[in-house]
Amino acid sequence: MIKSGGMVLVRQIGYALVPMIARGVMLGADQPVILHMLDIEFAAEALKGVKMELIDAAFPLLKGVVATTDVVEACTGVNVAVMVGGFPRKEGMERKDVMTKNVSIYKAQASALEAHAAPNCKVLVVANPANTNALILKEFAPSIPEKNISCLTRLDHNRALGQISERLGVQVSDVKNAIIWGNHSSSQYPDVNHATVKTPSGEKPVRELVQDDEWLNGEFIATVQQRGAAIIKARKLSSALSAASSACDHIRDWVLGTAEGTFVSMGVYSDGSYGVPAGLIYSFPVTCSGGEWTIVQGLPIDEFSRKKMDATAQELSEEKALAYSCLA
Ligand code: LMR
Repeated sequence: MIKSGGMVLVRQIGYALVPMIARGVMLGADQPVILHMLDIEFAAEALKGVKMELIDAAFPLLKGVVATTDVVEACTGVNVAVMVGGFPRKEGMERKDVMTKNVSIYKAQASALEAHAAPNCKVLVVANPANTNALILKEFAPSIPEKNISCLTRLDHNRALGQISERLGVQVSDVKNAIIWGNHSSSQYPDVNHATVKTPSGEKPVRELVQDDEWLNGEFIATVQQRGAAIIKARKLSSALSAASSACDHIRDWVLGTAEGTFVSMGVYSDGSYGVPAGLIYSFPVTCSGGEWTIVQGLPIDEFSRKKMDATAQELSEEKALAYSCLA
């Protein structure tokens, strides 16, 4: 039995996420789950309503629901913690504006997870600034191994696959091995230099099929980088269903493994690979097997990519310094 602790402070993502988990989208169609949902006191009544709906949906895999405003109860015994709780970014706000509001939330949740989660609990931070929130969580939960703490850039990864699929008129499931490097912010670098498309005559590089480097190095990158903001502008709310779906993809691949020859993007603790400063939570290409991620090594990096990878690392170093100053 896997207990999946979804921190549901951001109600939009949480509300989209819990039925996906209960249907087996995150952990597999044969994996029973117990859902722990945490929200703030203000939303306690609404959270009870979500629990009622989960019961009413009669999900065969759902073996229990805990709906609570007590962080200790929420964290107790969880095997997977999805941290969607945080102060959401609103139209016109920069990610840095939400930093102060979020670092203290992550410090508190880190302590509760460290003390009460199951050993080897896997943690996915979704709430922004996701990379830096994950870093704060890691700092304040020192006994949780750093390999167990990650942040969501699979959303950006999937957005990159989606843009390529739209441009080429191919199935998104035939596009793979895009990479998101760095921060889940507009400084991220969506890189298609290693991405391929399955065609009737075998796998072909995306660059060869698109045949428009100007688009790939310009509009494509900007569209993926700015997609979160574009959705906020259109919906007046941040992305929810795509964030929830990507969170499921992230955990499913982490727990159950990536397909042979396929890599995905995850925000993980940098060990200095690709010259990225160690000690940042930075998005890398990874493969997963046996419940562990491994950074894909040895990919050639051209000068254009190097500059973009360094720029997003620089932003993360600045965010880290800002987060620590907020904590002081
Ligand atoms: C997204 O990428 O959709 C969100 O992270 C946007 C945001 O900044 O809230």
